[in-house]
Amino acid sequence: MTPSRSALLVDDDAHILEVLEMRLSAMGFAVTATQDPEEALAALGTRGFDVALVDLRMEPMDGIAFTRAAHGLQARLPVLIMTAHGTIENAVQAVKEGAFDFLTKPFVTEELRSKLARALSERRWARDRNLLRTVGETLTSGPIDRVLHVVAEGTMETTETERAVVFLREDGRLVPKATAGASATPLDWLAGAAEAAMARNESTTVTGADGRLTLAAPLLVRGTAEGAVVVENPSYVIATGEDVDLLRLFAAQAAVALNNARELSRLRSGALAALGRVASQVAHELNNPLGGLALYARVLEERFAKAGDEEGVQLTRKVERAVKHLGELVTDITAYGRPPELKREEIPANALIEECLSLVQDRVADKQIRVVSNLDAAVGSMLADARELKKVYLNLLVNALDAMEPHGTLTVRSRSAGENGLEVSVEDTGCGMDAETRARMFDLFFTTKANGTGLGMAIARSVVDRHGGRLAVDSEPGRGTRIRIELPLRGTP
Ligand SMILES: Nc1ncnc2c1ncn2[C@@H]1O[C@H](COP(=O)(O)OP(=O)(O)O)[C@@H](O)[C@H]1O
Ligand SMILES: [Mg+2]
Repeated sequence: MTPSRSALLVDDDAHILEVLEMRLSAMGFAVTATQDPEEALAALGTRGFDVALVDLRMEPMDGIAFTRAAHGLQARLPVLIMTAHGTIENAVQAVKEGAFDFLTKPFVTEELRSKLARALSERRWARDRNLLRTVGETLTSGPIDRVLHVVAEGTMETTETERAVVFLREDGRLVPKATAGASATPLDWLAGAAEAAMARNESTTVTGADGRLTLAAPLLVRGTAEGAVVVENPSYVIATGEDVDLLRLFAAQAAVALNNARELSRLRSGALAALGRVASQVAHELNNPLGGLALYARVLEERFAKAGDEEGVQLTRKVERAVKHLGELVTDITAYGRPPELKREEIPANALIEECLSLVQDRVADKQIRVVSNLDAAVGSMLADARELKKVYLNLLVNALDAMEPHGTLTVRSRSAGENGLEVSVEDTGCGMDAETRARMFDLFFTTKANGTGLGMAIARSVVDRHGGRLAVDSEPGRGTRIRIELPLRGTP
């Protein structure tokens, strides 16, 4: 049977070295024994050990200095300091300096056995604690990218490898989604290992031409391999069964996280769609009575006017304004629920932006906002639905103005992008958005404002989508926000 545990033994006393080597071998350890601390450190630099037993009194480097140097090479290596009676204070000092425990010479077999066992299980514990912590963090899940990142980091840490990469299959290709650590091996090689593990549906070990060892475990989401976690070892490390187990655990964890995140986003989009349908139905039901109310209010206003009742006139005007506001809201909601066919026509691209800017002039003046309008005259006309596009610009402008304190700066830019593209950006120096708001800003009815409707961004994105364009958000809390839109000038590309 090949020993599965390895011990490094350092003592300048050849006799002790010999005796201990025999005992440890008998206990099932693969032993590397040396009288020279430097040689022992060199060994630590080239391969991993499960435990080290080190004499306290050595020349030129004592056990304490050795422990420090050893931990520089293998941070979690348990070091047992060996000491003769009478130097116990030093041994205690050694433990304070990071040694795991001490053994007193001459060795009592039982003490040796139990301290070794504790050292080994402690090492496992350190790994397991890390693992549990990581798993805990992963489960309190977040955006999938972050989850995968945590998985990569955790995998690298607990398996003590050089690099860990999480691959996912996207559109038939294996894409590295998260990486921890560094190594010179090309990612293609790791992707190959990932493919192998996915094809076999189980953990796989691949040895490279240079002797480097790569472990890969498939991410099984409902039984299907959707990706793989790959860890890379320096050539000197021998993977243990425990390493493979850990990797498998992490892969399973990543798969759970992946599944959760997908499920959540599916649920959320399902719920949002349902919410949208209900909302537009309600809006539809409101449409007719609102029309009636508007009419009655106007009739009332005329009567009050005829009777010379100025107060009555003012009151009915208030009613009219409220009804008008409700009507606009209803229009927005119905428009979102059932977007009208686009009526594309040739329109001057910049003029439409300027028109929208003029529509928000009152708000600009109220807050004494500085407007920087940087519209590229080279941008000519475009084929688009002007009414719909106006909604986009207006919503972005209003949001930008809402976000700013007085005296802020609003920057609006346009320029051509590529042969058939227009890029428009609206930038503010306002409050900006945190990650949570950024993630939810396009959700129907998501708003952080007391009087917000949470419709603006949902509508903006839907219109941009229907024009075959793209919308990108750049925002930092306290720094402001920039929304960039790319639109094809000649219809869907
Ligand atoms: N320019 C911006 N600066 C800061 N936050 C913004 C900006 N644009 C949008 N948001 C955030 O996105 C949310 C949703 O916007 P929107 O859909 O237009 O709804 P509303 O403006 O009615 O709140 C806003 O409540 C706000 O929190
Ligand atoms: Mg808005």
